[in-house]
Amino acid sequence: TLLDVVVNNDLNIEGYGACEGTLTCSTCHVILKQEDYDRLPEEPSDEERDMLDLAYGLTDTSRLGCQIT
Ligand code: FES
Repeated sequence: TLLDVVVNNDLNIEGYGACEGTLTCSTCHVILKQEDYDRLPEEPSDEERDMLDLAYGLTDTSRLGCQIT
């Protein structure tokens, strides 16, 4: 996942991925360009949508990084 990329490369993004991909935070919120969003193989799950609703600055092309593979 995108979260794995951040963790495995020791990217120091304060607070990113606080729940370690268990869909209980929204600190991994990313806003994608429309073309990148459209290229993702899967739509967000209901659980991801619920958590996205709590994300700061939600947009039509928002996803949670821990759910992007
Ligand atoms: Fe918490 Fe993605 S890391 S929802």
